[in-house]
Amino acid sequence: MDAHTHDVPENIEPASIEPGSRAKMLKQATHDIHDGLDKDIMSRDPFGSIGNYIRFLEVQYRFHSVMDGIYRMPALAQLLPDLDGRRRLHLVARDLADLGAPLPQVKRDADEAGPGDDIPAAMGWLYVAEGSNLGAAFLLKAAAKLGLSESHGARHLAGHPEGRGLHWRTFTAALDAIALPPEDEARVIAHAKRAFALVRRYVGNAYA
Ligand code: HEM
Repeated sequence: MDAHTHDVPENIEPASIEPGSRAKMLKQATHDIHDGLDKDIMSRDPFGSIGNYIRFLEVQYRFHSVMDGIYRMPALAQLLPDLDGRRRLHLVARDLADLGAPLPQVKRDADEAGPGDDIPAAMGWLYVAEGSNLGAAFLLKAAAKLGLSESHGARHLAGHPEGRGLHWRTFTAALDAIALPPEDEARVIAHAKRAFALVRRYVGNAYA
């Protein structure tokens, strides 16, 4: 499925759609890579069986293992609200345990190192992880067909009690408000793409 079919008139540059919104820029800049990932994941029929779904959880576990350190970066905690509360690694781990599946062995190579203490890079990674929770409403519905729910096997797909939309807007408003020198802006985008590419690679490996 294409989740993002908000067509942009040809004569308008994406940058002019919502000046000042870094989150909107990120959405535009990663539209194609997100679409490719959606299609790749869905082609593996992740909700077709518990076995397929466990592969999907393994992808999420690997991704959130990289993300967890980013959510815990002290320098970011001052810039983005409730960062620690947005962590989902422990929820993915509980989902795997619910289904009796072992935690994947996480070995990092250079590509998976994440952004280190680079704040613009970390912002790109966080955009991807937080956005994936917005899109997860759809995935949670699909998981329900396997008998999974926010309290069994699909905990990490749950929305925040305040509502997914509000929780997302709180995040994007804070992300937009972080002042960066113009030369750092491209690194935010490059790292969002890198995060998507890493997830895509995990998908390929998980279902190989
Ligand atoms: C782990 C893999 C995934 C990642 C990292 C991811 C990432 C994202 C991101 C960053 C956004 C926010 C876009 C924005 O700026 O508004 C998003 C939204 C969305 N994603 Fe994904 N996504 C993933 C998998 C999927 C899959 C498999 C589907 C369904 C086939 C999907 C469907 C959606 C939908 C429907 C939205 C829009 C939600 C809304 O506007 O209410 N995503 N995702």
